[in-house]
Amino acid sequence: MEQTLSIIKPDAVAKGVIGKILDRFESNGLKIAAMKKVQLSRQDAEAFYAVHAARPFFNDLVDFMVSGPVVVTVLEGENAVLKNRDLMGATNPKEAAPGTIRADFAENIDANAVHGSDSLENARNEIAFFFSGREIS
Ligand code: CMP
Repeated sequence: MEQTLSIIKPDAVAKGVIGKILDRFESNGLKIAAMKKVQLSRQDAEAFYAVHAARPFFNDLVDFMVSGPVVVTVLEGENAVLKNRDLMGATNPKEAAPGTIRADFAENIDANAVHGSDSLENARNEIAFFFSGREIS
C-alpha cells in the first residue's frame, strides 16, 4: 500500500468538477485517506513548490495556486503514486492521453486541474506539508 498527495487546483475547483475528479480516484482503486479544502497563502505555495523556485514559470505557478481554493487529498492504494500519475495524464493537457483527468478537465499547462506527487519520497514530504497523522485514516 502506498499513499500519495493530490491537489485539485483552483481551475478545477472553480469549474465545479471536484466530485468528478474524486470519482476518478475512487473508481480506480484509490481510497481517500484524508481531504481538505484550503486557500493557500503565497508563502504556502512558494514553500510547497520550492523545488521549482529557479524555473521561469515559478511566479506564474504561485500566482495561479493562490488564485482560489484548492482541494488537497491523500490517496491510498496499491502503487498509488504511479496510479495517480496515470489517472492525471501528462503535465501539459495538450499531451495528456484521452480519458485522463487533465485531458478532460484542464485548460493549459498552468491551469492543469491537478497536481500529484511524482515519487514515494516526495509523496511523504508533500503529505506531511498538508496533514498531521491524526487527519489521515
Ligand atoms: P504540477 O504537477 O503541479 O507541478 C508544477 C507545475 O508547474 C506543473 O504542474 C504545471 O502546472 C506548472 N508548469 C508550468 N509550466 C511548466 C513547465 N514548462 N514544465 C513543468 N511544469 C510547468
